[in-house]
Amino acid sequence: MRDPGVQAFLDAAEAALGAASGAGTPAARVGERVFARLRATVGAQGGGAGAAMLPVCGWIEAALETAEGGPRQGLADAFGALVERLEWKRRLSADPEDRAFWDGHANAMICGPGGMEQRDDLWIGATVMAPGVTYVDHDHPPEEVYLSLAPGEWWNADMDWTDPGARGVIYNPPGIRHAMRSGTGPFLALWFLPV
Ligand SMILES: [Fe+2]
Repeated sequence: MRDPGVQAFLDAAEAALGAASGAGTPAARVGERVFARLRATVGAQGGGAGAAMLPVCGWIEAALETAEGGPRQGLADAFGALVERLEWKRRLSADPEDRAFWDGHANAMICGPGGMEQRDDLWIGATVMAPGVTYVDHDHPPEEVYLSLAPGEWWNADMDWTDPGARGVIYNPPGIRHAMRSGTGPFLALWFLPV
């Protein structure tokens, strides 16, 4: 039996991802793979150390407000109900000397290793950033889809900086170098990776 809050979030996320990605696109295929796995099995609850917030999490409420009245309000509401139950952490490799990034970002795993639902076949999580922060360039073997809940821009080695808008989606092919950044307001986005 899946946690009802997690299930409500996953239902809203599947609908938003489906609405954002055209049939047969790489982003749509990522969504199909991720949600088929979630239908097939339910992972154990609470794989991590428990709920934890960082100061940058103070931006989440303002970020969620930007989704009010928009196409992802339902997703923002379902995610908002989980926020205080998540373990918000800095990127493992974050450098304390880089104050803007160290103080200005946090990630939380919802479904995946150490997430609210423990899984080893996918990662679903969230990133929040304060205004004016760029997430460090990174890469990983799994392909990845991002859905934004607040305005932001994404870059990858094959794509100039792009704002997908409130209805769009960002797709990163396996292993590609990529990054994201906030503008004048807070950044909040969800990521989906079949692993
Ligand atoms: Fe990534």
